[in-house]
Amino acid sequence: MRFFPIDRENNVLNLKKVVMKKDRKLLIAGNWKMNKTVAESLDLVQQLVRELHQVKEVDILISPPFTALGEVSKKVIETNIRLGAQNMSEHTGGAYTGEIAAEMLKEFLVRYVILGHSERRQHQEESDSLISKKALTAHAASIRPIVCVGETLEQREAGVTNDVVGSQIKGSLAGLTSEQMEETVVAYEPVWAIGTGKTATAEQAQQVHAFIRSVLAELHGSSVANQVRIQYGGSVKPANARELMSQPDIDGALVGGASLDAKSFSEIILNSI
Ligand code: 13P
Repeated sequence: MRFFPIDRENNVLNLKKVVMKKDRKLLIAGNWKMNKTVAESLDLVQQLVRELHQVKEVDILISPPFTALGEVSKKVIETNIRLGAQNMSEHTGGAYTGEIAAEMLKEFLVRYVILGHSERRQHQEESDSLISKKALTAHAASIRPIVCVGETLEQREAGVTNDVVGSQIKGSLAGLTSEQMEETVVAYEPVWAIGTGKTATAEQAQQVHAFIRSVLAELHGSSVANQVRIQYGGSVKPANARELMSQPDIDGALVGGASLDAKSFSEIILNSI
């Protein structure tokens, strides 16, 4: 079972938190980034299916590179592991050399697509407005977007984390209907915590997650905001997963490095239940 902090002084408040949290099932996702050949992907998937086939309490997602989606798809069909992609075009098809359309992903039963990862914002100069177009295209194809936001170290140190994250949320999710918003996942990934071994403390992460939910409530009302799953990403490991996942507004994880190893990804999931 998930761990909830016990506050004996204030059981009513505590109970409320528990009920709200149970409404949102954890979504723990692996983002394999530009790693794994087809053979390596199949090897990892085989181990994950073995380790995790009994897990029902958490939604499990893996996002291999495009080149491995076809083969991996055959291995996870009829298992509890869902498939995600790491990016997608905002266009539905046509003369866009090198791009991948939503319908092509659907052929492999891709259910989720990671959009606006900070690495794409940085290296491919993806803007909030492009990300919102991609999110709309994903919804039109019934693929759920996982929209990433997060501040850099300089921004955190300058005390503008909420300004940055708030503006990314408003820009990257612009134009979504409330129904689409409910089916969208937000991933808060502080840039300074990605691949650095420096995790945000559970309190730091919870603060930003609660702020994100308040911005979503401003945009779509609190009942929609309470449905949206907000993942944390940035150096999630077996050792810190439980504390992070026990926070009231943290509804899952987007795991990079530790998702490349079957044992550590499985432990993150099992430690979060
Ligand atoms: P790490 O878990 O390697 O820090 O990466 C996080 C991430 O970018 C997931 O999308």
